[in-house]
Amino acid sequence: MDIAHDPITADDIPSPAQPPLIKREDYTPYAWRVPETALDFALGLDQTQVTATLKLERNPAGEASDEIRLNGDGLTADRVAVDGANITDWRMDGPDLVIPLSGKAHTVEIATTINPRTNTALMGLYASNGMLCTQCEAEGFRRITFFPDRPDVLSTYRVRMSGPKDQFPILLCNGNNTESGEGEDGTHWAEWHDPWPKPSYLFALVAGDLVANSASFTTASGREVECNIWVRAEDLQRTGHALESLHRSMKWDEEVFGREYDLDLYNVVAVSDFNMGAMENKGLNVFNTKYVLADPDTATDADFDAIEGVIGHEYFHNWSGNRITCRDWFQLSLKEGFTVLRDQLFSQDMRGEAVKRIEDVRILRAAQFPEDAGPLAHPIRPDSYREISNFYTATVYNKGAEVIRMMRSMTGAERFRAGTDLYFDRHDGEAATCEDFVQAIEAGADLDLEQFRLWYQQAGTPKVSVSQQVDGDILRLTLTQTVPATPGQPDKQPMPIPLRVAVHSRTTDSLGAEQLIVLDQATQVFELPLAGPDPVVSINRGYTAPVIVERSLDNADLVFLAAHDDDPFARYEAMQELAVGHLVAAASAELDGAALAEGQSALVDAMRSVVTDVALDDSMRGELMLLPSETYLFEAMASGDRKADPGAINTAREALRTAIGQALATELNALHVRAQKVDFDDPDGRGARKIKTQALAYIAMSDRAKAAAMAAHQFDHADNMTDRQGALMVLCGLDCPERGERLTAFYDRYKTNDLVVDKWFTLQALSSHPDVIAQAKQLAEHPDFTISNPNRVRSLYMAFAGNPSAFHAESGEGYRMIADVILALDPINPQTAARFVSALGRWRRIEPKRAALMKAELERISNAKNLSRDTFEQVSRSLEG
Ligand code: PHE
Ligand code: ZN
Repeated sequence: MDIAHDPITADDIPSPAQPPLIKREDYTPYAWRVPETALDFALGLDQTQVTATLKLERNPAGEASDEIRLNGDGLTADRVAVDGANITDWRMDGPDLVIPLSGKAHTVEIATTINPRTNTALMGLYASNGMLCTQCEAEGFRRITFFPDRPDVLSTYRVRMSGPKDQFPILLCNGNNTESGEGEDGTHWAEWHDPWPKPSYLFALVAGDLVANSASFTTASGREVECNIWVRAEDLQRTGHALESLHRSMKWDEEVFGREYDLDLYNVVAVSDFNMGAMENKGLNVFNTKYVLADPDTATDADFDAIEGVIGHEYFHNWSGNRITCRDWFQLSLKEGFTVLRDQLFSQDMRGEAVKRIEDVRILRAAQFPEDAGPLAHPIRPDSYREISNFYTATVYNKGAEVIRMMRSMTGAERFRAGTDLYFDRHDGEAATCEDFVQAIEAGADLDLEQFRLWYQQAGTPKVSVSQQVDGDILRLTLTQTVPATPGQPDKQPMPIPLRVAVHSRTTDSLGAEQLIVLDQATQVFELPLAGPDPVVSINRGYTAPVIVERSLDNADLVFLAAHDDDPFARYEAMQELAVGHLVAAASAELDGAALAEGQSALVDAMRSVVTDVALDDSMRGELMLLPSETYLFEAMASGDRKADPGAINTAREALRTAIGQALATELNALHVRAQKVDFDDPDGRGARKIKTQALAYIAMSDRAKAAAMAAHQFDHADNMTDRQGALMVLCGLDCPERGERLTAFYDRYKTNDLVVDKWFTLQALSSHPDVIAQAKQLAEHPDFTISNPNRVRSLYMAFAGNPSAFHAESGEGYRMIADVILALDPINPQTAARFVSALGRWRRIEPKRAALMKAELERISNAKNLSRDTFEQVSRSLEG
């Protein structure tokens, strides 16, 4: 740990002292191995006693020393014994326990006592709704017992737990339940054994009053796996989808990646207090209830999809994460990028490739592009961190997935599979690095990735500019790439960028054949065959590379691509390009009246063909009908010296939506009427539900009274949450009596269902209602609001921070609200608090008035006393540079 190179001086350091900077290059193996770990838990909500017995051996690869350092976080040792005898010459070094230890092999026993009930950070062992559960990734195990809490120390675990039977009738841990029994005074106990060596971050324990939905799965080799989804009794009827998704994931991983499950038991537990989505603990996944519980009455189609995706994600980790884990946390994308790619491919296979790809690109652009363009930009394999929790980012996850997807695009699915087979083969049972993965793909898939490794090192979204020139019967396509400077990385090298391209002919309507080109120099010319006159280049089809393509196509060419391209992603992209070009120009006041009208009418025409094209399926139509988000438009507007102007973007986008709503009133109404007639269970039901709310939202832009009546009707007659939530979303943006009435009806109907109450908060915090700020403030006073539940906090404040017209209000009130919530939440749950900082961190790309207000809020946070490591790191990075 080297803090010498850090740019911040001692004067800048708020209390407590600045947390150290951990660097990737400083990795050294641990001095000891821990082949076996035994844990004994005497469970209680207010007091849990933990005894850990560690079998230790010298690691021949580690440095020699005459002591052992075990990580702790807020722990004190009640007792320490070495080889059976209590010792007293141990010492604390900060939070860590240091024990003198020479010789080759020892057994160390340590007793600690922890209080799960006061654990509001939700890391380590904590109480949720009367049950006990754990979260150990990344560094939570050290809040349970002293241990080498790093992912390269693998151990097999035997766990015994005991506790009051009435309070904790179900006792679960990783691996297999080897024995259970009754104790004295109404207690019972269970012993668990996990035969697979694992790092401490994959440890899990759950004790509570739970029931399971169970079904066994037969693996490809004929073994039976008992699968259980554990929930509170009242939630049991909403577990079917999660269980089916789990079975589908298991089957898919056998078929597509050749991976079979390796225990006889697979447990999933749903908890309502959870910092993230879910956690892949070996044999005992712990899930946020949001990604388990669903039925059509309480969950939307999107919720169903998210559950399938997250269940798949955690299941796929069993191989990409658990069987092969990470050497250190800098390698996080080794498991996360790869596993996100695996869950994306799974969902594509379950639900259709085109729409899923569009959704994933939308997420990348909304969450990762701003990160890559801001003060928190980092490579998918970071070089340093102060708090690892801050690096569970869209960059590590989603850009990480894109980077591996590019490898797959360059080799094709079959060769890529040979590469992953080799990877699983070579590194099974190990703690590996990103470099190990790249080498396995190189050898197994026969692909040279030497230059491609830059994708692991360089942050920033590459820009590719395109120009074209016709030369006889070929098209000369000149591509130039630039990778923007990011914090700590002023100069960048060109990277290999695989692009699927085709050259169409607009006037003859003929579509050119697709081919893959790889741009790997700063500037390169590609010669492509022409399909006819008036060539229109379709580039980055299927979104093969996570880059920004910069070109200026005529509106006519974009309208042609939007209507005719044979690649569905390219159609979507053309629609987006058309809208981005127009909206950014309009927001930058670059368009005179005539140009504004011309741009709007091109978009209205394109939207008309989207709305009326009978050949288009409704799910795809729903994607094409969506205009680029304001957040994405900020990114597009903030380029070079130009700053994003949230007010101007909002005005331009609302004007376009109004123009579409007015010009296509008849068509949109017809669309809504048609969609309303499709039954819930109809194979086209999902698509119909998607477009009906979108139609309503456009209608609301031109005829508010009519939209209010239609939305109220849709709400009152809905037999599912998708329609109900969609109608309420539209009503929330309108100032009409139907709004309040339906909000009350929704709340009264669902007030005992936390996940639906979360939706109720979110819908109001996301609305475009003129009083949204006052409404959000009132919601914070609502009896159902609590700052200690992350889902509830996010339902109000993440939604609010993601609502540009609220967050970017000219008064700065939105910024102040988010800073206030960061300060209030930081002492309670630093991990969740720190996640709000990035919204304010975008100040440098915003126009000066708002930028000053945002920066002032960051400074206010940074002046607070006793900031957590999490928030300190995010705030100081956001102010630096
Ligand atoms: N590893 C989890 C996942 O991606 C995410 C997670 C990280 C959950 C840290 C909790 C804490 O599936
Ligand atoms: Zn993951």
